[in-house]
Amino acid sequence: MLSDREREEITEELKRHAAPRGACVDALRIVQNHRGFVPDEALHALAELLGMSAAELDGVATFYNQIFRRPVGRHVLHLCDGVMCWMQGAPAVYAHLREHHGSAAGETTPDGRLTLLPAPCLGQCHCAPALLLDGEPHGDITPQRLDTLLAHCHGRG
Ligand code: FES
Repeated sequence: MLSDREREEITEELKRHAAPRGACVDALRIVQNHRGFVPDEALHALAELLGMSAAELDGVATFYNQIFRRPVGRHVLHLCDGVMCWMQGAPAVYAHLREHHGSAAGETTPDGRLTLLPAPCLGQCHCAPALLLDGEPHGDITPQRLDTLLAHCHGRG
Protein backbone atom coordinates (compact mmCIF):
# COMPACT_ATOMS: atom_id res chain seq x y z
CA MET A 1 0.00 0.00 0.00
CA LEU A 2 1.33 3.44 -0.93
CA SER A 3 0.14 6.67 0.66
CA ASP A 4 -1.47 9.37 -1.48
CA ARG A 5 1.61 11.55 -0.98
CA GLU A 6 3.99 8.76 -2.03
CA ARG A 7 1.85 7.97 -5.07
CA GLU A 8 1.81 11.66 -6.02
CA GLU A 9 5.61 12.02 -5.79
CA ILE A 10 6.19 8.76 -7.68
CA THR A 11 3.79 9.84 -10.43
CA GLU A 12 5.79 13.07 -10.78
CA GLU A 13 9.01 11.03 -10.94
CA LEU A 14 7.55 8.76 -13.63
CA LYS A 15 7.13 11.77 -15.92
CA ARG A 16 10.94 12.05 -16.09
CA HIS A 17 11.42 8.50 -17.36
CA ALA A 18 10.62 6.89 -20.71
CA ALA A 19 9.66 3.61 -19.04
CA PRO A 20 8.19 3.22 -15.52
CA ARG A 21 10.85 0.75 -14.43
CA GLY A 22 13.50 3.40 -15.13
CA ALA A 23 12.16 5.27 -12.12
CA CYS A 24 12.46 2.32 -9.76
CA VAL A 25 15.44 3.52 -7.70
CA ASP A 26 13.97 7.01 -7.27
CA ALA A 27 10.60 5.51 -6.42
CA LEU A 28 12.20 3.30 -3.76
CA ARG A 29 13.94 6.40 -2.36
CA ILE A 30 10.62 8.25 -2.20
CA VAL A 31 9.07 5.46 -0.15
CA GLN A 32 12.13 5.33 2.09
CA ASN A 33 12.06 9.10 2.63
CA HIS A 34 8.54 8.76 3.98
CA ARG A 35 8.97 5.62 6.06
CA GLY A 36 12.68 5.29 6.84
CA PHE A 37 12.82 1.98 4.97
CA VAL A 38 10.91 0.06 2.29
CA PRO A 39 8.53 -2.46 3.89
CA ASP A 40 7.20 -5.46 1.98
CA GLU A 41 3.69 -4.09 1.42
CA ALA A 42 5.07 -0.87 -0.09
CA LEU A 43 7.50 -2.82 -2.26
CA HIS A 44 4.66 -4.95 -3.65
CA ALA A 45 2.47 -1.91 -4.36
CA LEU A 46 5.40 -0.12 -5.97
CA ALA A 47 6.29 -3.11 -8.15
CA GLU A 48 2.71 -3.23 -9.42
CA LEU A 49 2.77 0.50 -10.19
CA LEU A 50 6.05 0.15 -12.09
CA GLY A 51 5.04 -2.99 -13.99
CA MET A 52 7.75 -5.09 -12.34
CA SER A 53 7.61 -8.23 -10.29
CA ALA A 54 8.17 -7.83 -6.56
CA ALA A 55 11.22 -10.10 -6.86
CA GLU A 56 12.76 -7.86 -9.55
CA LEU A 57 12.20 -4.72 -7.50
CA ASP A 58 13.50 -6.42 -4.36
CA GLY A 59 16.64 -7.31 -6.34
CA VAL A 60 17.13 -3.63 -7.20
CA ALA A 61 16.50 -2.56 -3.59
CA THR A 62 18.98 -5.11 -2.29
CA PHE A 63 21.63 -4.07 -4.82
CA TYR A 64 21.67 -0.44 -3.61
CA ASN A 65 23.19 -0.22 -0.15
CA GLN A 66 21.36 3.04 0.60
CA ILE A 67 17.93 1.43 0.20
CA PHE A 68 16.87 -0.25 3.42
CA ARG A 69 14.41 -3.15 3.50
CA ARG A 70 14.26 -3.22 7.29
CA PRO A 71 14.00 -0.45 9.88
CA VAL A 72 17.34 1.23 10.60
CA GLY A 73 18.69 3.55 13.28
CA ARG A 74 19.09 7.34 13.00
CA HIS A 75 22.56 6.78 11.57
CA VAL A 76 23.65 3.97 9.25
CA LEU A 77 27.23 2.79 9.07
CA HIS A 78 28.24 0.54 6.16
CA LEU A 79 31.58 -0.98 7.14
CA CYS A 80 33.42 -2.62 4.28
CA ASP A 81 34.22 -6.28 4.74
CA GLY A 82 36.04 -6.66 1.44
CA VAL A 83 39.44 -8.36 1.35
CA MET A 84 41.58 -5.18 1.30
CA CYS A 85 39.73 -3.65 4.22
CA TRP A 86 39.88 -6.90 6.10
CA MET A 87 43.66 -7.07 5.62
CA GLN A 88 44.10 -3.41 6.61
CA GLY A 89 42.32 -3.54 9.94
CA ALA A 90 38.55 -3.89 9.50
CA PRO A 91 38.36 -6.70 12.11
CA ALA A 92 39.71 -4.31 14.79
CA VAL A 93 37.12 -1.72 13.77
CA TYR A 94 34.31 -4.30 13.98
CA ALA A 95 35.58 -5.37 17.40
CA HIS A 96 35.75 -1.75 18.58
CA LEU A 97 32.18 -1.14 17.42
CA ARG A 98 30.99 -4.22 19.27
CA GLU A 99 32.92 -3.57 22.50
CA HIS A 100 32.66 0.22 22.78
CA HIS A 101 29.47 1.15 20.90
CA GLY A 102 27.29 -1.93 21.42
CA SER A 103 27.03 -2.31 17.65
CA ALA A 104 26.84 -5.77 16.15
CA ALA A 105 26.97 -6.38 12.42
CA GLY A 106 23.50 -6.34 10.86
CA GLU A 107 21.90 -4.83 13.97
CA THR A 108 20.70 -1.54 15.38
CA THR A 109 21.80 -0.37 18.84
CA PRO A 110 19.04 -0.62 21.47
CA ASP A 111 18.83 3.19 21.66
CA GLY A 112 18.10 3.31 17.92
CA ARG A 113 21.09 5.53 17.21
CA LEU A 114 23.19 3.36 14.92
CA THR A 115 22.75 0.49 12.48
CA LEU A 116 25.90 -1.35 11.45
CA LEU A 117 25.74 -3.06 8.07
CA PRO A 118 28.64 -5.00 6.55
CA ALA A 119 29.18 -3.97 2.93
CA PRO A 120 31.05 -5.46 0.00
CA CYS A 121 33.98 -3.47 -1.46
CA LEU A 122 33.07 0.24 -1.40
CA GLY A 123 35.58 1.10 -4.12
CA GLN A 124 37.83 2.83 -1.56
CA CYS A 125 40.53 0.16 -1.35
CA HIS A 126 43.28 2.82 -1.64
CA CYS A 127 42.28 4.06 1.85
CA ALA A 128 41.23 0.77 3.46
CA PRO A 129 39.62 0.16 5.83
CA ALA A 130 36.72 2.20 4.53
CA LEU A 131 33.14 2.89 5.51
CA LEU A 132 30.08 4.92 4.60
CA LEU A 133 28.50 6.86 7.43
CA ASP A 134 25.04 8.08 6.44
CA GLY A 135 26.11 7.65 2.83
CA GLU A 136 29.37 9.65 3.17
CA PRO A 137 32.61 7.80 2.42
CA HIS A 138 35.48 7.80 4.92
CA GLY A 139 38.80 5.96 4.70
CA ASP A 140 41.88 4.99 6.72
CA ILE A 141 39.56 4.09 9.56
CA THR A 142 41.03 3.31 12.95
CA PRO A 143 39.04 2.83 16.16
CA GLN A 144 40.04 6.36 17.22
CA ARG A 145 39.00 7.92 13.91
CA LEU A 146 35.73 6.02 14.08
CA ASP A 147 35.05 7.43 17.57
CA THR A 148 35.57 10.95 16.22
CA LEU A 149 33.24 10.35 13.27
CA LEU A 150 30.54 8.85 15.49
CA ALA A 151 30.84 11.60 18.11
CA HIS A 152 30.39 14.16 15.34
CA CYS A 153 27.33 12.48 13.84
CA HIS A 154 25.73 11.76 17.22
CA GLY A 155 26.26 15.44 18.02
CA ARG A 156 23.96 16.19 15.05
CA GLY A 157 21.26 13.91 16.41
S1 FES B 1 37.83 -3.82 -0.02
FE1 FES B 1 37.07 -2.23 1.24
S2 FES B 1 36.89 -0.56 -0.10
FE2 FES B 1 37.58 -2.16 -1.36
